[in-house]
Amino acid sequence: MPLRRVVFVCVLWVCIALTSLRAEEPRSFSAQGRRGAIASVHPLATQAGLKALRDGGNAVDAAIATAVTLGVVDGHNSGLGGGCFILIRSPEGETIAIDGREMAPGAATADMYLRDGKAVAELSQTGPLAVAVPGAIAAYELAARKCGRKPLSRTLDEAAQLADVGFPIDRVTARNIREHRDEIARFPATAAVLLKANGMPLVEGDRLVQADLAHTYRQLAEQGSAALYRGAIGKQIAAWMAANGGLITEIDLANYVALEREPLVTTYRGHTIVGFPPPSSGGVHVGQILNILKAFDLKELQQRDPALLIHVVAEAMKLAFADRAYWLGDSDFVPVPRGLVDNDYAKQLARRIRLDQVTVVDDHGWPPEWDTRHFKKHTTHIAAVDEQGWWVAITTTVNTSFGSKVIVPGTGLVLNNEMDDFSAQPGMPNAFGLVGSRHNEIAPGKRPLSSMSPTLVLRDGQPVMALGAAGGPKIITQVVLAIIRFIDLELPLEQCLAQPRWHHQWRPDRLYVEQALADSVQQRLREMGHELQVIQAAGITQVVARTADGRFLGVHDPRIPGLAAGLD
Ligand code: GLY
Repeated sequence: MPLRRVVFVCVLWVCIALTSLRAEEPRSFSAQGRRGAIASVHPLATQAGLKALRDGGNAVDAAIATAVTLGVVDGHNSGLGGGCFILIRSPEGETIAIDGREMAPGAATADMYLRDGKAVAELSQTGPLAVAVPGAIAAYELAARKCGRKPLSRTLDEAAQLADVGFPIDRVTARNIREHRDEIARFPATAAVLLKANGMPLVEGDRLVQADLAHTYRQLAEQGSAALYRGAIGKQIAAWMAANGGLITEIDLANYVALEREPLVTTYRGHTIVGFPPPSSGGVHVGQILNILKAFDLKELQQRDPALLIHVVAEAMKLAFADRAYWLGDSDFVPVPRGLVDNDYAKQLARRIRLDQVTVVDDHGWPPEWDTRHFKKHTTHIAAVDEQGWWVAITTTVNTSFGSKVIVPGTGLVLNNEMDDFSAQPGMPNAFGLVGSRHNEIAPGKRPLSSMSPTLVLRDGQPVMALGAAGGPKIITQVVLAIIRFIDLELPLEQCLAQPRWHHQWRPDRLYVEQALADSVQQRLREMGHELQVIQAAGITQVVARTADGRFLGVHDPRIPGLAAGLD
């Protein structure tokens, strides 16, 4: 073994040991640094990002190192068998939006999940038919080539060593394996990684070693993404799909490209909000909800009655999600009106919101120029920033926990079930309860609509915050809540993430509130006419920001054991 690798493995062991010890201690969920900051949902992934910064990489390298490491240590949320959206702001002020969203295979059809005229959720959520062509590695490669300072091959090689050495799984991963044991058991290569020889799930503290995944990462390190899209890994996937009723072929893999999109820019109370355009619905609806909220003095509402603030924001969410269900889809295939983020349209929607009771929203609205002016075309979020002025927001996913549950033998890659983010049948809810129209119906080569919302916030032309979240449609609403708490309520960043959240997505017509929300406030909301559903957590948010004294602050969501780190 070369000396560099021996030293790296020894350091890795120490990091893993310290991480397991620290997991027992109460930990702050924020950290500051003069030279940079990073936040993710897993300590080992954040440490990989920090190492990239220390090794002379920039925030783009750090975010990518964190993302590929999450594919090893947090595979139920994300990995190279899935997709991502990357938003980068360069020191020169250029914003780059890279679309690594998965793509429907060439043989996919609008009715592929219908049996006897009804969509069968099982088919779009578990097993070979659920898998769309992965895009994450193509996007990381493009981002590293365009903006990075560190070779992606080295980053992948370091993550491969972690997969080989193994690490003790945390309670979140253990819970996810336990909850999906039966589906995992259906796929022998997945079971071989996540279950014990007796078929029981790995539990917290068990060491997870992924030799096949390490081999895959090394092939990608040596050959680049071509190893997946035109090489041995792709051949293994296509052969398995052909033998097991899946659709993905070698041609589908060879056809995949990560795309650069035009970022979606809106404004909010003197700030510029840079969001991700379709096939994300995030940029459109974060912008739309904030536009609607411009009609209200949120701080005054909060002071008058906290329930009133929740009500108004929930009504804005409801109106936006009614539009999402009808208008949104992959803008390379269907017209998505730019008018959705028009300020006059937002004013018109805001006038429908009453302060004393819920508004009945039966259908979507009609944004201006809807027929002519269009965009041209369980998840995790990473936020990173450095002293050179790179700001990065990456949201990445395999969709629901462990995606399709398929690991193709020999690859170690958990394959996504992103086909479920298409609308399998108009009006039929997907795994997140979201309904869609023909705009989001399945077509070959189309990218399923996403809620992933990597977002940058600028003031006076300078970035002040990079953020994003996990949680399906709750991503959009959490990003909105973090922004209004930061800008309108002027809360410390930790409180922007820690305070109880709420969520409305139009259908079902229900207001979701976190259990930490005071009973008295919940009661007031019921009196206004909201049907409440109390949930444990409305998603997971990560953010980095600039402090008043010019330092960088990283905050991870306190709802799970992630890690924020700063570099001094
Ligand atoms: N798979 C969740 C999303 O992209 O919204």
